[in-house]
Amino acid sequence: MAERVITVLGATGTTGRRVAERLRAEGVPHRTASRSSSTRFDWTDESTWKGAATDTRALYLVAPEDPRPVRDFVQLAVAEGVERIVGLSGRGAQHFATPGVSFGADMVAAEEAVRESGVSWTLLRPNNFDQNFGEGLFRDALAQGRLGLPIDSTHEPFIDAQDVADVAVELLLRGGFEGQTLELSGPEAISFGEAVSTMSAALEREIAFQPLSRGRYLEELLDQGVPHEDALALITMFELLGAGINTEVTDGVESVLGRAPRDFESYARQAAMAWH
Ligand SMILES: NC(=O)c1ccc[n+]([C@@H]2O[C@H](COP(=O)([O-])OP(=O)(O)OC[C@H]3O[C@@H](n4cnc5c(N)ncnc54)[C@H](OP(=O)(O)O)[C@@H]3O)[C@@H](O)[C@H]2O)c1
Repeated sequence: MAERVITVLGATGTTGRRVAERLRAEGVPHRTASRSSSTRFDWTDESTWKGAATDTRALYLVAPEDPRPVRDFVQLAVAEGVERIVGLSGRGAQHFATPGVSFGADMVAAEEAVRESGVSWTLLRPNNFDQNFGEGLFRDALAQGRLGLPIDSTHEPFIDAQDVADVAVELLLRGGFEGQTLELSGPEAISFGEAVSTMSAALEREIAFQPLSRGRYLEELLDQGVPHEDALALITMFELLGAGINTEVTDGVESVLGRAPRDFESYARQAAMAWH
């Protein structure tokens, strides 16, 4: 019988890559699955699903942007013998995908599919990642010296994606926290402007943070070629953040790992080394 593995979806992404690296470092048999991973898995191509799910004992689930296939895939994975699912969602998901909110349908669908899977599960709801500043959404703006966002003084306890991955690996390997939805934050809430100043100091280059009106931000996103629907979803996300839904620091990381989460300054120093 083939060895049963841990399957990591989204394995080239911000958290999945780190989950897979940690499993590799610990010598745990695992499979990396995405369109460009060693096991080709594509949410939009059902013929690739079985190959990703087969002989899997535990699954790290990163939701597809279009949430429609997630339930069918989870059911197939359970039929293939998956016993445990650790699903990635996002902090504040209880406010997403309600009437009038055009953000987070992917995370809500993933949560529902995982909760109804019939196997052991834990859901992770992290805050926005530190990595958005150094390798994700805001990287290009930081490289150009100015980040403009429709948010002002609201604080956010940004979390290091490595902490999210460490929590996921712990739960995939050793279980615990079954049937729970864990809110994961960094150790302290800072404003987006403070995060930019910290990145600016670590990178030793001037980077300005500029609070924008909703209209100006929309214009800038459209000028950058962001599709209208995606731009509106981002604006909705900032409106939710601005309403203060995710400002509280949580003890989620510490409760799973028994240590404090990494702070933003350490992340910024590490990101600066990677940039230089
Ligand atoms: N960024 C944040 O601050 C933040 C905070 C909280 C929650 N989240 C949530 O985290 C999730 C994203 O996770 P992440 O940041 O770890 O990943 P990510 O960096 O957004 O990367 C997405 C991953 O999904 C794979 N993928 C994309 N389209 C696919 C398809 N059609 N079929 C199969 N795989 C596909 C990509 O690999 P390939 O290109 O190789 O297919 C990649 O590995 C989202 O639900 C987001 O809302 C993000």
